[in-house]
Amino acid sequence: MYFIGVDLGTSAVKLLLMEENGRIANVVSKEYPLSFPHPGWSEQSPEDWWKQSVAGLKELTKDFDRTKIGGISFGGQMHGLVVLDENDNVIRPAILWNDGRTGKEVDYLNNVIGKDKLSAYTANIAFAGFTAPKLLWMKENEPELFAKIVKIMLPKDYLAYRLSGVHCTDVSDASGMLLFDVKNKCWSKEMMEICSVREDQLAKIFESYDVVGTILPEVAKELDFPETVKIIAGAGDNAAAAIGTATVGDGKCNISLGTSGTIFISSKNFCVDSNNALHAFAHADGHYHLMGCMLSAASCNKWWMGDIIGTNDYATEQGKITKLGENNVFFLPYLMGERSPHNNPDARAMFIGMSMDTTRADMTQAVLEGVAFGIRDSFEVARSLGIKIEKTKICGGGAKSPLWKKIMANVLGIPVEVIESEEGPGYGGAVLAAVGCGVYASVEEAATKLVKVVGTEVPDPALVAKYEERYNKFKKLYPTVKELF
Ligand code: XUL
Repeated sequence: MYFIGVDLGTSAVKLLLMEENGRIANVVSKEYPLSFPHPGWSEQSPEDWWKQSVAGLKELTKDFDRTKIGGISFGGQMHGLVVLDENDNVIRPAILWNDGRTGKEVDYLNNVIGKDKLSAYTANIAFAGFTAPKLLWMKENEPELFAKIVKIMLPKDYLAYRLSGVHCTDVSDASGMLLFDVKNKCWSKEMMEICSVREDQLAKIFESYDVVGTILPEVAKELDFPETVKIIAGAGDNAAAAIGTATVGDGKCNISLGTSGTIFISSKNFCVDSNNALHAFAHADGHYHLMGCMLSAASCNKWWMGDIIGTNDYATEQGKITKLGENNVFFLPYLMGERSPHNNPDARAMFIGMSMDTTRADMTQAVLEGVAFGIRDSFEVARSLGIKIEKTKICGGGAKSPLWKKIMANVLGIPVEVIESEEGPGYGGAVLAAVGCGVYASVEEAATKLVKVVGTEVPDPALVAKYEERYNKFKKLYPTVKELF
């Protein structure tokens, strides 16, 4: 049997075909545009996601026996607001996870309703990219559109809806809406009231590995798939990536270097960061996790390479970097504001410390290091909670770079384990599909059996010491410049 994982990302949908034994049979990627209609806003068209997913599913399976497809599941960009009217038409473009328009609403939620109440209702406080502040924004700024909302959904749930006709979501993705009581895994009545939404507008909640339904006959026909294909709820992309890297059970860690950068710590028990700097969410393995999220990670490198110095030859540019730990240039990676730990949508990126002898390689290096320092900020929050992280896995596009993995291991001072494929969310989605179809008894069993570590980037004590010094400077930069934003 084959299982399909659909990673609905910010720059592209990546589809992965997995055999029952975990072998990756094929991978296909289909891009779509991202629009920034105002500075700090970020939107996409759900119809683009659907069209490119359909094209991708056809291409992914064209040379394989489609009668053997068992199930499809997802890892999806989190927090995005997708709203449908009574005819199932999308009311407005989706407002994405890295959209910073809701400063006023976040302020209202955190300071008028109050962080204590939000944390009691949902285990989290408000951040600009979360879904609840976006609903408040729509209510205030687009009241006539807000009044038309019949269904509220998250990005990957829109795909599940088009595939199965079921309005569903899963516990990990629902956790990022600020409408979900994470501890009790149900919608929060208080938050629904605060946001003026009703439970019938929200999706039915499933565990990530639950079957939500079967593919609609007309979709099966269009794709030439059997009508028996099961649709499995799936997970937010970070939880799916954690499954795809076997970050399951207690105290395991995964770093994702995608458009966003995240540090994800799995936990068997429900836990909250008392300062709410880290998100406290449900995990796709049936348990919980803590997570720090920086809004621009591999996207900083993509911006620097593509938009600024005008090349896509990452290997050549990184090949010129020879002085690890000895750069005088710092880069603050806040191109889209910052979530963890600063919670400031108005923060912006900066280069600091250049002199006449600064080279292009120094600046490229500063970008890679700035992202690693940003991840270290959340790592320090986890440490301050008494969590011991002894090693981590890594995935995402940025994990393709051996140099970036080395920088990460030495900035964090822990071994970074490299797995066979860096396709975290897509692979995790396929594993969830296999569990949903009954091939494995649990997500933990499947992930630990299927995911293989193929190498480890071990930190070098001399380099760790140099990076420690540099991090101590880096962490003073944001507090020094934040008044400017
Ligand atoms: C997590 C987050 C991002 C997106 C990226 O909280 O906002 O990692 O899920 O796709």
